[in-house]
Amino acid sequence: MRMRVSKLVTIERHIAEEEHLARGATGEFSRLMRDMLLAIRLISRDVRRAGLNDVLGITDGTNVHGEQVKKLDQIAHDTIFRAMDHGGHLCIMASEESEELIPIPPEYARGKYVLLFDPLDGSSNIDVNVTIGTIFSIYHRVTPDYVGDGTLEDVLQPGARQVAAGYVCYGSSTQLVYTTGNGVDIFTYDPTIGEFILSEEKIQIPNRGKYYSVNEGNSTKWDDNLKKYIEYLKTPSADKRRPYSLRYVGTSIADLHRTLMYGGIFMYPADKSNPKGKLRLMYECNPLAMIIEQAGGRATDGEHRILDVRPDAVHGRSPLFIGSKGDVLEAEAFLRGDFPKDYVQAEAETAAK
Ligand code: AHG
Ligand code: MN
Ligand code: MN
Repeated sequence: MRMRVSKLVTIERHIAEEEHLARGATGEFSRLMRDMLLAIRLISRDVRRAGLNDVLGITDGTNVHGEQVKKLDQIAHDTIFRAMDHGGHLCIMASEESEELIPIPPEYARGKYVLLFDPLDGSSNIDVNVTIGTIFSIYHRVTPDYVGDGTLEDVLQPGARQVAAGYVCYGSSTQLVYTTGNGVDIFTYDPTIGEFILSEEKIQIPNRGKYYSVNEGNSTKWDDNLKKYIEYLKTPSADKRRPYSLRYVGTSIADLHRTLMYGGIFMYPADKSNPKGKLRLMYECNPLAMIIEQAGGRATDGEHRILDVRPDAVHGRSPLFIGSKGDVLEAEAFLRGDFPKDYVQAEAETAAK
């Protein structure tokens, strides 16, 4: 359900107003998000220019000045690090682009928050002008009264303990989708004034949708019950609820955003060559799962709630079934072999022919 907004509210004002909802709020979270928004503005600018790199003489490897050119993933990573490392709000960071945890430089103060991020999601789509994104996940450190360096224990927390989660779509417009546990709000960036303006608030995902989203190119490697589920979605039903339409961008936040707005299901399942799927638990599945649950949807690994998964590695992967509650529950039923009556009946009729 989409709640169009008429009042003019910037994200900074929205965060400040929400601040009073968080007990013991000190304004530190607002300042952390202010720094994150600077990074997002800069990445949005760089993404919008990506197509011009060749024209501007920035070729693969070195640019006209003979400087080493970085991939947009690395540029986005560096931008977030440089915006976030000195604010005094974080005790440690983790990024998809850094194998190791990222400490706060010794010259800067440490704070009570932990930041994990996927600086550039959908890298395979950068060169073909298809939507890409940024994903971030924020926790309190597990030892809030301690002011030293953060540790692996501060990073490896289950998603249910996230303080905030968000993703940015660099699409037809730059939109930030964000939650601190009080519902999901969308802010659209107006580059002419440099502000993120509240454009939709308290998004609720429909209980069912008409779209399924999965890379069917992997279907020969899927579990048999998953194959049955996907075939079921493609089979016309008397109530016209099926067939579903397939939509697959190949950028998780784009597929997730369409699912949030229209309903349906986005999946990156395990398969024979990827026993844990492809998406990373800590900085892809967890933030997306917090957002979808805050919008009334469901996110599991096919069996367990994503936000309850106890992480054992910063870059660990998880299968992901996420979207409308009715659709995700139906997928889970197929995966455990609990087929709906109309499916069993149709199979019996086929066998009888
Ligand atoms: P990233 O660019 O951060 O590595 O993420 C890419 C991910 C995710 O965005 C997307 O859903 C998935 O890769 C697509 O994978 P396939 O190309 O295997 O479908
Ligand atoms: Mn990604
Ligand atoms: Mn990435």
